[in-house]
Amino acid sequence: MSKVCVFDHPLIQHKLSILRDKNTSVKEFRELVSEIAMLMCYEATRDLPLEEIEVETPMGIAKCHRIAGKKLAVVPILRAGLGMVDGMVSMMPNVKVGHVGLYRDPETLQPVKYYFKMPPDIAERDAIVVDPMLATGGSASAAISFVKEAGVKRVKLMSIIGAPEGVAKMQHDHPDVDIYVAALDERLNNDGYIVPGLGDAGDRIFGTK
Ligand code: PRP
Ligand code: URA
Repeated sequence: MSKVCVFDHPLIQHKLSILRDKNTSVKEFRELVSEIAMLMCYEATRDLPLEEIEVETPMGIAKCHRIAGKKLAVVPILRAGLGMVDGMVSMMPNVKVGHVGLYRDPETLQPVKYYFKMPPDIAERDAIVVDPMLATGGSASAAISFVKEAGVKRVKLMSIIGAPEGVAKMQHDHPDVDIYVAALDERLNNDGYIVPGLGDAGDRIFGTK
């Protein structure tokens, strides 16, 4: 069974409270999504393996540590996942970015794929799939299946808000994928929106409503 980590760091929780507010502007919403992604990235990469190296300082030799092991890719689920990319890239400037384009059919709530582009060496990388909202879990589960089909062995999912239904679907479909969220909300409404959530993340990031 996968692990579900809820990040209760005060900075993340404070920013999330502003993000949820219906009166928050598009500009501020966008900035907050990016900042929360940056802080979550810091926490979600805590288990990256390190190797010891020696560095010559102006004063002598220092034993230091640098990241070892497999390289990473960040994989946003379009559109809303795009809002999290900048924050991740600011923490990991050399990370490669793959894109999965999915939208939820408004009637069936099933994910429909319209774009898929990964770095050529994706099979040699671990992936962090990012999408602010984990609602029914249909989009995240489908995106992660596509990423695994491309050869990725180790995947993490990072969402800002998760619903119990989405977590359950992910744990059923991908028990090997750890889930990182800033909040686990109560439930979904009849239209598949997270309650209390923050509304439509894509629309609020891109100002399309
Ligand atoms: C939203 C959100 C997730 C999905 C979550 O995307 O960004 O991708 O819904 O819902 P699910 O867990 O029930 O699949 P949406 O389909 O609205 O597309 P958009 O990002 O292009 O706005
Ligand atoms: N997608 C969103 O953007 N918000 C939700 O609450 C559910 C799905």
